[in-house]
Amino acid sequence: MKLTRKVTAMALASMMVFSMAACGGGDTPAETTTAAAAETTAAAAETTAAATEAAEKDAETTAEAAGGAGGNIGVCIYKFDDAFMTTYRNALQEILEGKGYTVTVMDGKNDQAEQNNQINNFIAQEVDALIINPVMTSAADQIIATVKDAGIPTVLINREPTADQMSAYDKLVYVGCDARQSGTMQGELILDTPNKGDINGDGKVSYIMIQGDPENVDAQYRTEFSVKALTDAGMEVEELDLQRGDWDRNKGQEIAQNDLAKFGNDIEVIFCNNDDMAIGALQAIQAAGRKVNEDIYLVGVDALDAALNEVVNGNMTGTVLNDANGQAAGAVEAMEALLGGKTYAAGEQSIYVDYVKVTPENAADFQ
Ligand code: BGC
Repeated sequence: MKLTRKVTAMALASMMVFSMAACGGGDTPAETTTAAAAETTAAAAETTAAATEAAEKDAETTAEAAGGAGGNIGVCIYKFDDAFMTTYRNALQEILEGKGYTVTVMDGKNDQAEQNNQINNFIAQEVDALIINPVMTSAADQIIATVKDAGIPTVLINREPTADQMSAYDKLVYVGCDARQSGTMQGELILDTPNKGDINGDGKVSYIMIQGDPENVDAQYRTEFSVKALTDAGMEVEELDLQRGDWDRNKGQEIAQNDLAKFGNDIEVIFCNNDDMAIGALQAIQAAGRKVNEDIYLVGVDALDAALNEVVNGNMTGTVLNDANGQAAGAVEAMEALLGGKTYAAGEQSIYVDYVKVTPENAADFQ
């Protein structure tokens, strides 16, 4: 883009010189005067063209500083085969391309070694900025050291490293959500039911917890804070089972199916760390002849379209909006700030987008 604009400015200048010279001819004084005048005009034209070029260059510099069109952006997603991250990456790509960036999105295939290669390739290609959804949060130190070494402004998304890890590089920022908030909201959805989750009235809420990948802070906090909301409200709780479903619908279905066979009507609540696992759990609930909101409660997180439909239909008690569009917009904004030269001080490198509680009353707002 920069090159094209320069060529156009230069071509314009030489075309003007050429047409002015074509007006000249012999050596008579009048002709000489005309020729001299033409030269002066041509020189003025060149000056104008040069000024235009300089102005354009300034505009480009400003645009670049503001992270404007024309940059090459490398995006690494932990795996494409993840329902929520599919919505997220589509939003990210649309926003970036809409702003004129050239975007390459890579599938880490849930393999950190594969993602490391992708990051190294992006660095070799000299991308202007990176947006990375790490495969493993435990790899954060290594990822941060790599991008710092290459001096590439980087936005981490979806899997939050510690503030201490991020403090190693001031051109790095995390954009995501505070997962504690989503856990608390899941607990509140249960507290908002007529019996506060104690369907059989035995004085305690008996639940199973279907966890995401426990390496991920979202899974840890949602597991902890959903139950904490109940106990903070004075409810007694009983954990019948806690198993990792790795954010996966099929695993959610299997865990729920086994637990429903094992614990039967003792299960009053199924907490799922995300909607995809909740949709799987719903299949098991329906196969077991149970009815959500009558003899069992079911909550998820993300507000995937499929889950919003089930909330509206009464087949899920509720979910929590994990704002993919808001986070994608926030990630691009932070990336542009970094491209514009902004640095982030230690302890100020996490930017959070709010979660929103979703019930049958407001689910349509998010569909
Ligand atoms: C989402 C999950 C997703 C995970 C991927 C979480 O924030 O709720 O649906 O699988 O991120 O890291």
